[in-house]
Amino acid sequence: MFEYSIFETHLKSEKFGRHIKYFESTSSTNNEAKGYLVKDDSHGHVIITKNQTNGRGRRDNQWFSVPNKSLTFSIIINQKKIKYKEILSIISAIAIIKAIKKISNVNCLIKWPNDIILNNQKIGGILIEKKLDYMIVGIGINVNEERSDLNMEIKNASTSLRINNNSLIKLEILLAYILNELEKCCQEKNKYLINKWLSYCCHINKKIKFYENHNMISGIFKGINKNGQVIININNETKFISSGIMEV
Ligand code: BTN
Repeated sequence: MFEYSIFETHLKSEKFGRHIKYFESTSSTNNEAKGYLVKDDSHGHVIITKNQTNGRGRRDNQWFSVPNKSLTFSIIINQKKIKYKEILSIISAIAIIKAIKKISNVNCLIKWPNDIILNNQKIGGILIEKKLDYMIVGIGINVNEERSDLNMEIKNASTSLRINNNSLIKLEILLAYILNELEKCCQEKNKYLINKWLSYCCHINKKIKFYENHNMISGIFKGINKNGQVIININNETKFISSGIMEV
């Protein structure tokens, strides 16, 4: 059951989340969102479920969630209606960190490009997919799971807000907070967003390994540029990387 009145009480946005579709259960909110696009005006529409049965992560990974405990939703963004579509994943990560801080006073961090990290373990992730003029931002956050709820495959590498805080959070309120922050962040200037992301990043100046098309590059992570590309220092030479798998 989705508690609309609680959600609406906390939603302060103008557009984001003002149109919301709830599914008791669905395989993936990103898949639902793709089938749901309205040609002219789906901007800001949200698809949410409390039981995602076949969630997808980046790089064809599975995304595990627990019924009624995990937050799993997708928001549809019209790329023509935002200023910096190339850094939408950066913007989304910032919005999540801010919302979690507001609801629970917990300081999460970001691992490039947009893993949400708490106590060196993953607490949330973002999968952005494109269709037509739209970008579908799928967000998964471990909220009220106990350690025993976490899937064996991810148990050691993952955590939840409840494991950290020992308290329960209403999924409807966290959803509203994220949408409020996301709408605000979409209006911020590029410089503010990049600096904010850097202030949340957990591996600035750390040694990292990058896997790019079967090649491994190792160097020092220096930051990101205004397009969201990684700035990496390899033997005093600067290299820019747009995508790949990173190990800290
Ligand atoms: C990742 O870190 O690999 C990204 C995980 C994204 C998971 C969310 S949950 C809601 C939306 N629906 C999906 O199938 N995936 C995203």
